[in-house]
Amino acid sequence: MRIDIMTLFPEMCDTVMSESIIGRARKSGKVEIVCTNIRDFAGNKHNKVDDMPYGGGMGMIMAADPIYNCYKSLFSENEPKPHLIYMSPKGKTLTQQRVVELSKLDRIVLLCGHYEGIDERVIEEIVDEEVSIGDYVLTGGELPALCLADAVCRMLPGVLSDDLCFEEESHFAGLLEHPQYTRPAVWHEKTVPETLLSGNHAEIAKWKRKQSLIITKQRRPEMFEKIKLDKNDIKLLDG
Ligand SMILES: C[S@@+](CC[C@H](N)C(=O)[O-])C[C@H]1O[C@@H](n2cnc3c(N)ncnc32)[C@H](O)[C@@H]1O
Repeated sequence: MRIDIMTLFPEMCDTVMSESIIGRARKSGKVEIVCTNIRDFAGNKHNKVDDMPYGGGMGMIMAADPIYNCYKSLFSENEPKPHLIYMSPKGKTLTQQRVVELSKLDRIVLLCGHYEGIDERVIEEIVDEEVSIGDYVLTGGELPALCLADAVCRMLPGVLSDDLCFEEESHFAGLLEHPQYTRPAVWHEKTVPETLLSGNHAEIAKWKRKQSLIITKQRRPEMFEKIKLDKNDIKLLDG
């Protein structure tokens, strides 16, 4: 898969995407991440990419042309138009389900806004989808784009040490994950639940499922309501 990030801060994005698991995935060719500077497409002497908003108001707006020309530079006329996502607090909130869907595409382009946002006409012209990472406002789209790119990359085959390890994770199957522990078995007089030390894999699986159900019910009742409980789940919750 290829992920393009269109930004005024390519070094910031590139640095974050060069560390740890995602950095290794890039090095081994499991994902290609290309950060392109929108300012390179300013098309004026002072490399200016923003201007004052029509109708007045606070702050500056990113102009349409640099964004349009930057996007157009990412693919040739013979290539299909890559799916363009504008990171925006006005977009649909990102979910794990959407992350999984996006990870199945060959290519996505992430557009990071800055200042007070971008000219609406370029959104109408080239953007396929607007995505928010939550109901709060950040100074730029870089952190949202990095969140999305990270979440998508870890769904790609071979990026995590075990492709199945995300299946038990929070949100993948509509549940929150059970608590986890590592050595030592006793820490600050707190012990690890006995079942996890038992070596009995069937009992451990039951314990994990039960804890997931309990924690989801307590913390996210609206998620819990959507789970289709089978008879084993009901037995676990009653026990
Ligand atoms: C200061 S914000 C602009 C907010 C805009 N004036 C509004 O009220 O909707 C600048 C840029 O940060 C990004 N951004 C800020 N918060 C975001 C969020 N919650 N999700 C995704 N992108 C966000 C967007 O790319 C946006 O263009």
